[in-house]
This record gives sequence, C-alpha cells and structure tokens, in this order.
Amino acid sequence: MNKPMQLTDSHGRKINYLRLSVTDRCNMRCVYCMPPEGIAKIRHDAVLSYEELLLIAEASVSLGIEKIRITGGEPLVRVGIVGFLEKLSRISGLRHLALTTNGLLLDHLADDLHQAGVQRLNVSLDSLKPDTFREITRGGDLARVLAGLDAAERAGFPPPKINCVIMRGINDDEILDFAELTRRRGSAVRFIEYMPTLKVDGWQRYCISGDEILERIAARYALEPLDKGRYAGPSCDFRITGSSGSIGIITAVSGHFCNQCNRIRVTSTGQAKGCLFSDQKTDLLPYLRPPDRERLAEVLRDIVSGKPERHDISSQGYKHNNFTMSQVGG
Ligand code: 5AD
Ligand code: SF4
Repeated sequence: MNKPMQLTDSHGRKINYLRLSVTDRCNMRCVYCMPPEGIAKIRHDAVLSYEELLLIAEASVSLGIEKIRITGGEPLVRVGIVGFLEKLSRISGLRHLALTTNGLLLDHLADDLHQAGVQRLNVSLDSLKPDTFREITRGGDLARVLAGLDAAERAGFPPPKINCVIMRGINDDEILDFAELTRRRGSAVRFIEYMPTLKVDGWQRYCISGDEILERIAARYALEPLDKGRYAGPSCDFRITGSSGSIGIITAVSGHFCNQCNRIRVTSTGQAKGCLFSDQKTDLLPYLRPPDRERLAEVLRDIVSGKPERHDISSQGYKHNNFTMSQVGG
C-alpha cells in the first residue's frame, strides 16, 4: 500500500486540514461578522462552481489533507449543497468531513447532511436568550437553531460542537449557562475570543480573554483538562468533572496557538490563505479555469510551505484587515 502523503510547512507543522468556504452569503448578520447592511455580494460567476471546489478538495487530499470543513458565509444557503457534500465525502483518502453552520436551516437539512456523509457539525450559538440572540445575529431566531441542534442529534450526528463568541457586556453573563449545557446535554461548547476583524469603534471593550472565561467557569465548577484529538483545532479543552460534554477555549487573539496550526483556507472565490490574519493570498482561478490538477496541487503545496509562523493581531499597531468571516470562512 502507498504510504499516505504528508504535508508539512516550513515551520515543521503537519498540515492536514482544509477549510473550504462555499459561499459568502448568509441568512444572519452577526454583529462581529458583518456590518448591519451586510456586505456587497460577490457576483455569482466569481464564486467557484461545485466542480471547481471539488477539484480543490481532491488536489488537497492527494497532497495529504485528511479533514475538510465546509464553511461560508452560511454553507446551507447555497443551492445544491447536499449533493456537493455527498461527492466530497466519496473522495478517497478524506477521513473527516465536517461543516460549520449557524443552524437556522439545520432543522430541515440534518437528515440529508447525515446521509450525505457529513460526520460532524459545528453550530454557532452565542446566546441562549432569544432577545440577546436576536440582537447579536440581527434578527436570528434562537428557537430554530435549538430545533436544528435537536434535529442533528435525531439524524444520528454526535452532539454538534457549539461555537460561542463571548463579548463583554453582551453575552458574557451567559458563560456559566453555556458551561452548564456541557453537563446537562453533554454538549461540546467552544468559547471563542472575539476577534476584531471588522472595524468597529471601541472594539477593545468587547474583548474578554480566554483566561478570564476559564477563570469564571473554574470559580463555579471543577474542571479537568482533556487530551487533544488528531484533528483537533486550536482549542484548549476541559471537562466539568463528571460530565460527558467538553469546554473548549479558543484564544484567537491573546493565545499563541499558531505553533499548533494545522490548516489552510480557501474562500468561495478561490483565494487560498495560509493564515486567517495574513494579507497574503493566492488566487487559484488560473488553475481552475481551465482545470490543471497538477499545477493546482503544486500551488497548494506552495501555500502550505509559505504559511507564516504566527499572526500578530494582538501586538501593538495591528491594523484591521477589515475582512468579514463570511468572506474568509471563519
Ligand atoms: N470573532 C470571533 N469569532 C468569529 N466568528 C466569526 N466572526 C468572528 C469574530 N469576529 C466565528 C463564528 C463561527 C465561526 C466560524 O467563526 O461565530 O462560529
Ligand atoms: Fe453568518 Fe456566521 Fe457571519 Fe453570523 S458569523 S453573519 S452566521 S457567517
């Protein structure tokens, strides 16, 4: 049997994870992600077709990528997403197919997603209070997301990971409620530090460090550290002693998890990025239109080699890239 390929960057990190965005569109307008009016929509012909996205996925897997996460915008708003996921899940060598969603359409789609071969879902959920949820998402309906979470479990998914962006003065009063979910429902909740990706006046006042989040939980519950899984992302994981769920802390800003970075990203317009916070991106379109599998693989390998060692968004003089997660795929 052929030895599986391995991708290693120039800083010795094993890169096995691709985040692939299928659309910049979204049916919510989260305050930390988009301006109230939304963002200029990308023209349809600039967005990669499913065939083109598949070419990227196949080339990545042939190089040693083992896990693909589909992101957006909101991936479930793109027409034909289930058929695309089914094709992705059949790529030989791909071990893990996951999807990040805001959960609004999950109630309808959970069964189809499970049947299509998606193995794991991450659901963004920043508040368990309907009013706060509506404020943060500018109109989102909490009940639908909760129904989506139930539907996912009924469909046979493991409990979805819940991504929760904590903002001081907005939802930090719910940190313990989310921690309690890991006990009551066995959920995996990941607390994410708010990242200043959008230029919002006074953004500093919303920032709350992963350390503070953890301290607040530890003041109430006994926590034990958990080992990281093979494809584990950048979270530090804990469990409330005796509970089946887990609590992750993603110190996107304050932490230095860059040394464990295992991923590359491709946007829905075919821009590949080695680092979320870097200005550097590579346009894959020349290798997709018309398709050139060999060059595509070479270029992806170059992107891996060129991954910067770390980001410096917490250092002084950080300039806002002013990108939105809906454009880059979180
Ligand atoms: N800061 C922190 N997390 C963010 N996300 C999107 N924008 C930001 C931001 N500015 C999160 C979403 C989602 C994941 C893909 O990225 O909540 O869970
Ligand atoms: Fe949509 Fe996710 Fe951005 Fe919220 S964070 S607006 S759900 S893409």
